[in-house]
Amino acid sequence: MTAPVRTFKVRRRVTPGQADALARLLPGYGVDATRPFVAAQAFGRQAPLVLEIGSGMGEATAAMAAADPGRDVLAVEVHTPGLGTLLRRIEDAGLTNVRVLEGDAREVLADLLAPGSLDEVRVFFPDPWPKARHAKRRLVTAGFAALVASRLRPGGRLHVATDWTSYAEQVEQVLAGSEEYDVVARDRGARPVTRFEQRGLDAGRQPHDVVARRR
Ligand SMILES: C[S@@+](CC[C@H](N)C(=O)[O-])C[C@H]1O[C@@H](n2cnc3c(N)ncnc32)[C@H](O)[C@@H]1O
Repeated sequence: MTAPVRTFKVRRRVTPGQADALARLLPGYGVDATRPFVAAQAFGRQAPLVLEIGSGMGEATAAMAAADPGRDVLAVEVHTPGLGTLLRRIEDAGLTNVRVLEGDAREVLADLLAPGSLDEVRVFFPDPWPKARHAKRRLVTAGFAALVASRLRPGGRLHVATDWTSYAEQVEQVLAGSEEYDVVARDRGARPVTRFEQRGLDAGRQPHDVVARRR
């Protein structure tokens, strides 16, 4: 079987601070990427579960978890340095409602998360892959939306933000055109500015948010 096309570039150089955070904090906040994820075990309570895909340096993850202590957040990233930074934010803010998993979110969704187990899925500024020949690497496709829908509870939400016009059009097509979702909002809600969003704003790009509710 051929490996699925990658939605990310592999970049793993960690700073000493990130290495320290990974070594000290991953044992406590990290999730085993080889076993089905059982939220009640990981968090020690029953609470609605949010999945953030591609948490980057964790600005949104930590801020939104701190503002929403009644829900638990699982952050999934392939970028090890970013996970180190997120772990430091978790420690600094004393957060108990965040866990991190290093891996490809598509595999996590397909293999580790149970159907109907998610309250919300967040995808903030997925890699834009702006060149036409790379468009097949984009994460948010009809197949991805269907996989997410299968893991969301009925009424659960998928929130995607991007600042690339052609990707925003793709997200609109995928979500507004899907029989599994209703688009319920096109604003950022409580989403703070992330590192990638700020880079885009500095370069003159504007964010587009789409929030879709699973039927
Ligand atoms: C452009 S960055 C945005 C990061 C952050 N959300 C922000 O707004 O600053 C996209 C992130 O998604 C991650 N990513 C891409 N494909 C992924 C996948 N299949 N599973 C998990 N993370 C992924 C990348 O490693 C990268 O950190």
